[in-house]
Amino acid sequence: MNAASLPVPGPIRPRRLRATPALRRLVAETRLDAASLILPLFVKEGLSQPKPVASMPGVVQHTLASLEQAVREAARAGIGGVMLFGVPAMRDATGSQADAPDGILQRAIALSRAAVADEVAVGAVTTGPVVMADTCLDEFTDHGHCGVLDAGGRVDNDATLARYASMAVAQARAGAEVLGPSGMMDGQVAAIRAALDAAGFSDVVLLAYAAKYASAFFGPFREAVDSTLKGDRRTYQMDPANGREGLREADLDIAEGADIVMVKPAGPYLDVLAAVAARSPVPVAAYQVSGEYALIEAAAANGWIDRKAAILESLLGIRRAGADLILTYWAAEVTSWLG
Ligand code: PBG
Repeated sequence: MNAASLPVPGPIRPRRLRATPALRRLVAETRLDAASLILPLFVKEGLSQPKPVASMPGVVQHTLASLEQAVREAARAGIGGVMLFGVPAMRDATGSQADAPDGILQRAIALSRAAVADEVAVGAVTTGPVVMADTCLDEFTDHGHCGVLDAGGRVDNDATLARYASMAVAQARAGAEVLGPSGMMDGQVAAIRAALDAAGFSDVVLLAYAAKYASAFFGPFREAVDSTLKGDRRTYQMDPANGREGLREADLDIAEGADIVMVKPAGPYLDVLAAVAARSPVPVAAYQVSGEYALIEAAAANGWIDRKAAILESLLGIRRAGADLILTYWAAEVTSWLG
């Protein structure tokens, strides 16, 4: 048989693999799973009832009691982690409640660890969500900045590192398994790692907010933590114009000892996420932030968008871009859809 008589391939038909739900499921390149989702939770000191966050429908500021329930539900749902944010009753210039042993975040950490341990002990789950805490001063300072200020009112990088180190040790003592330094101070990962190791917490994991942008999409979060910030965070969080610099920040955090690096926000920074994921030797997380949540919830509330489909697509896009882990306020609901 000579070459001329070989059958000529017909039209190439990529649609063949899209013909049925079963085929589409079989060949899906990207999947969502509960174990790689992390649920951010807010706990506020002195609340008697959970308080809804108006700009984030479905999200509340928890009491310690309702936080415990949320953590138990996250455990039973198989969610990979919970990220705790504390809102103290008292704020001051240095954020002294951030490292107080009985500060609201430390109490929330201890309570969450105990709740997870109990779910495991009673056999409800074999392993619960990893308990994580935000390591940053902005919820604890009266001026709302992520660090302490110098005499001129500027955020003092190196003075802040000492506060983060102390806060990290307090969180580790309370039982936090993973810390999320989110303040974007230079050298924060190295400073926190050294402090943890010196205090005997060499097993505590650092999930570093590496490429964190000064984003308008953090707006609703500021309500969720009763933020007092005036002005902005542009002297420490990154300029949204810069992609290359995001890679530099990720490289620095990895060199300083970050166990996981994060890009934040997620949706508007998928290019940065993909580039970090392509070169990172450590797992990569992405934070689908409050504004990304609010956009879809608001459009859905108006009947302008298919809520469930939009949520799943937004998360799949983040996953496809390269996120191994995703922080999302929809973690619990999405998990219930995954079946
Ligand atoms: C700082 C912090 C912020 C968020 C997470 N950690 C706020 C900020 O940087 O202004 C935002 C998260 C969100 O918008 O969902 N502790």
